Amino acid sequence: MRVSVVGTGYVGLVTGTCFSEMGNTVWCVDVNEEKINALNKGIIPIYEPGLSEMVLRNRESGRLNFTTDIAEALETSEIAFIAVGTPMGEDGSADLQYVLSVAKSIGKHMKRHMYVVDKSTVPVGTSEKVRSAIQEELDKRESDLTFDVISNPEFLKEGSAIADCMKPDRVVIGVDSPCAEAAMRELYKPYFMNNDKLFFMDIPSAEMTKYAANSMLATKISFMNEISNICERVGADVNKVRLGIGSDKRIGFSFIYPGCGYGGSCFPKDVQALIKTAENFGYKSKLLQSVEDVNHAQKGVLVKKVKERFGDDLSGRVFATWGLAFKPDTDDMRESPAITIINSLTDAGAKIKAYDPKAVNEAKECYLKGNDQVDYVDSKYEALKDADALILITEWKEFRSPDFYEIARLLKNSVIFDGRNQYDANRVAEYGIEYHQIGVRL
Ligand code: NAD
Ligand code: UGA
Repeated sequence: MRVSVVGTGYVGLVTGTCFSEMGNTVWCVDVNEEKINALNKGIIPIYEPGLSEMVLRNRESGRLNFTTDIAEALETSEIAFIAVGTPMGEDGSADLQYVLSVAKSIGKHMKRHMYVVDKSTVPVGTSEKVRSAIQEELDKRESDLTFDVISNPEFLKEGSAIADCMKPDRVVIGVDSPCAEAAMRELYKPYFMNNDKLFFMDIPSAEMTKYAANSMLATKISFMNEISNICERVGADVNKVRLGIGSDKRIGFSFIYPGCGYGGSCFPKDVQALIKTAENFGYKSKLLQSVEDVNHAQKGVLVKKVKERFGDDLSGRVFATWGLAFKPDTDDMRESPAITIINSLTDAGAKIKAYDPKAVNEAKECYLKGNDQVDYVDSKYEALKDADALILITEWKEFRSPDFYEIARLLKNSVIFDGRNQYDANRVAEYGIEYHQIGVRL
């Protein structure tokens, strides 16, 4: 099929590339000229395992194209995906300005019947706004072209986006016409040998499914962080409790890892947006508000531990931090706990030696820009030299089995604060290292 994907960010670039991998001809569109020029030179703007090779392969085959010109992309497309950002607005609701601006452009430039598919995460009712925005532009043109609006939320995770896209757990599609359903079935059929993972439903249910999924996952994490805080106080070990409850199939092991709070471009904004949507319909969600509140507090737990150990005034102290990205295998730092943790430590007078395998540029140029108490180093061991303690924030693989002998030798004080509970406390103790974890009393 011929597909346009408007918005070439994490979702647009990954899904557009995966559509082309399946044999479709794809136009990825973005207003960011620098990004499109880079992609046309084969430079991939984000770090995502496996993406670069797939982009280059499909670009070479001519199936994957990049442009800033939406009219050029729509010229031959039957389907147009909207995959732009829906950031948190000032009042907590999803800001739909980018989605609606794309809808307008589609209305302005479409030349045939189009299936307009919303892949961005949007509140219930957005498809109607998209429909009106497109129709308004068609009316201005006095055009009698027709179109279908479809909701197809995306569930990929950064760091495993290609695998999530090529082998999805499910594809949720909200439609209100048989031809829209047929078109989407045709597009997604190659992803499944049979169609049992395609869930067709009405549009509001599809829009709601996305928020419900992210809120459920965020709830699991906040629940586990709450349990970890209780464990610490009563003298239980959350690592053991996690195994004890996860082995119950009804609970399961995924998304019950305690830590220093969830980050990323989606959980924080989507939980907030669902709270706001519910509020707009006269319902106050106490549970979702608590999920958010627990997460906000959790980002402060490591700093509290550091202050309990070294005092409230951290002047003269240097801390090595491992990890800046909001999770491993991405250079994305949006809402990363590292931002809160590092800024709180430097506010208390500390200096930071930060290492991350991929996210240093993001930190320098954006998320920690202006914090001159942070030095960036090129290796995890370099960060440790003369530091008072190591603080592990993101569980990159290269931090999983470090040389504890080297850690103890390089640090001024042999102390680790682990925000992701990566190590066996008994092993760490053998090196004389004081080991602070989440949800375990020292
Ligand atoms: P992003 O910020 O990485 O990318 C958005 C892109 O859209 C940017 O490149 C921007 O320049 C472009 N853009 C903005 N206005 C445009 C316009 N008028 N025309 C063309 N391009 C335009 O965002 P993202 O992380 O890809 O997220 C996109 C949506 O998908 C959001 O609603 C998000 O909640 C959802 N989502 C994200 C993920 C994820 O892992 N990042 C996963 C699932 C769903
Ligand atoms: C999340 C969802 O997992 C995707 O399904 C969804 O499509 C996406 O949001 C989205 O809508 O954008 P992502 O944000 O890429 O994906 O990353 P996750 O793996 O979900 O991790 C989110 C945060 O939760 C990270 O900060 C991670 O460290 C934290 N987390 C995750 C925990 O603290 N504990 C866990 O057990 C799991």
